[in-house]
Amino acid sequence: MDHTFKTLLYTCDENGISIVTINRPDKLNALNEQVMDDLSACFTQIAEDDTVRGVILTGAGEKSFVAGADIKQFTQLDAESGYRFALRGQAVFNQIEQLTKPVVAAVNGFALGGGCELAIACHLRIASQNAVFGQPEVNLGILPGYGGTQRLPRLIGRGRAMEMILTGAHIDAARAYDIGLANAVTPASELLERSHELMLDIVSKSPIAVALSIEALRMSDLGIDQGLEFEAVQFGQACGTHDFKEGVAAFLERRKPMFGGN
Ligand code: COA
Repeated sequence: MDHTFKTLLYTCDENGISIVTINRPDKLNALNEQVMDDLSACFTQIAEDDTVRGVILTGAGEKSFVAGADIKQFTQLDAESGYRFALRGQAVFNQIEQLTKPVVAAVNGFALGGGCELAIACHLRIASQNAVFGQPEVNLGILPGYGGTQRLPRLIGRGRAMEMILTGAHIDAARAYDIGLANAVTPASELLERSHELMLDIVSKSPIAVALSIEALRMSDLGIDQGLEFEAVQFGQACGTHDFKEGVAAFLERRKPMFGGN
């Protein structure tokens, strides 16, 4: 895997846990075209790299996760290019959501606009105490275009999403936790350690069971009958694996399972 990106820092440890850091701290890690290209390339490579088991996504500096799409780019947008701009952003965030390895957003400050949409495209969110979430697009005369109107109501309910999107209000970390926007809140100094612990726990499970679960959970957006059918298919697939036999045997023999990912 090529680890060099213009706007991202990339590391991967011996447990297969990658840290992807959006690195434009002087612009509060705002998402310009280069960041979107780099994110797309990075997650394509992560998907193909068997040594990577999970990803922590964060922002450089102490102030911001991502303060939104780069507003400088907005001066160029008209109706036609705005449509393509939204489709491109949605495609990149879909790549992240559809990765069958767990992705945790370590939200280290502002997660506004596209930053909030990026955090909710990740599978889990750990927020630092200074994190601030919000969808302030209405203040600019637009609406969320990177998936916010669709993912936010699914995550926190339509009433709360409506309030966030129509008011553009900032939501602090404690409130984000209360409404299910953040899975946990931690002091800023412990954010990466806490995210890493969570990821270590997940990567100790069968990678097949984790991948099948992520796919099945995504299908909860379908109607219940279609979703249940999909769940049953995934469940059957899991039951055909060595990891399943090992997990059951380990439980019955009162020992820790040794998952081989097959
Ligand atoms: N796009 C482009 N640049 C951005 C940005 C964005 N979304 N958010 C912040 N920046 C830049 C600022 O222009 C400033 O750059 P400069 O030093 O060259 O002038 C730098 O990042 C620091 O931001 P600043 O506004 O000075 O920090 P602050 O602490 O006073 O305020 C925010 C922080 C996040 C409240 C404020 O930057 C903000 O409201 N940003 C826009 C958020 C937004 O509307 N996002 C959704 C876009 S759809």
